Amino acid sequence: MPQPSPKPALRPFLAADGPVLAAIFVAAIEELTGDDYGEAQQEAWASAADDEEAFGRRLAGELTLIATLQNSPVGFASLKGKDHIDMLYVHPDAAGQGVASALCEALEKLAGARGATSLTVDASDNAQGFFAKRGYVARQRNSVTVNGEWLANTTMQKNLKDSAAPGVQP
Ligand SMILES: CC(C)(COP(=O)(O)OP(=O)(O)OC[C@H]1O[C@@H](n2cnc3c(N)ncnc32)[C@H](O)[C@@H]1OP(=O)(O)O)[C@@H](O)C(=O)NCCC(=O)NCCS
Repeated sequence: MPQPSPKPALRPFLAADGPVLAAIFVAAIEELTGDDYGEAQQEAWASAADDEEAFGRRLAGELTLIATLQNSPVGFASLKGKDHIDMLYVHPDAAGQGVASALCEALEKLAGARGATSLTVDASDNAQGFFAKRGYVARQRNSVTVNGEWLANTTMQKNLKDSAAPGVQP
């Protein structure tokens, strides 16, 4: 009988995590986004991690959580300010095991604790289904230039009060 996947553990970002998170970022883009973006677009997107130090500084400047399986980082997510998900990336080897769900749920709680009443994300085309499943609603279609390439994404929003547990007063 197949064993259920172990639940990921979550911990805060540490300065030494920059390179491993840069590698997860690149692998997730290369292996999980090919149905929606061309090779040149993927390369331009992934180039944000070329400078690992700058990439680490960006994550350190936000509220970044790391998901681990057997103590190894397999995904990460970051909250910019109190109400915007900046990044959410899961290593392809750990995809489909609830890693992004655990990260997103934690960010939603932290955003609520920071006083946010709703949360936004500029969702990539491949992540739109994931966010829709979590109750995010598409608000606006965007085209952004990244390293000379145009990439489409969709601003999505979730009302955090909708996700309060039954009986809990907001
Ligand atoms: C999108 C991404 C973060 C999802 O990570 P994941 O850990 O595989 O997601 P989960 O296992 O937590 O999935 C939770 C649910 O969403 C569904 N889901 C996941 N990806 C989905 C997708 N692309 N479309 C539709 N549903 C999706 C899963 O089937 C699962 O449903 P279930 O609960 O009924 O089984 C991952 O595919 C990724 O890193 N993509 C590339 C980077 C990217 O685009 N990041 C987003 C930037 S905004």
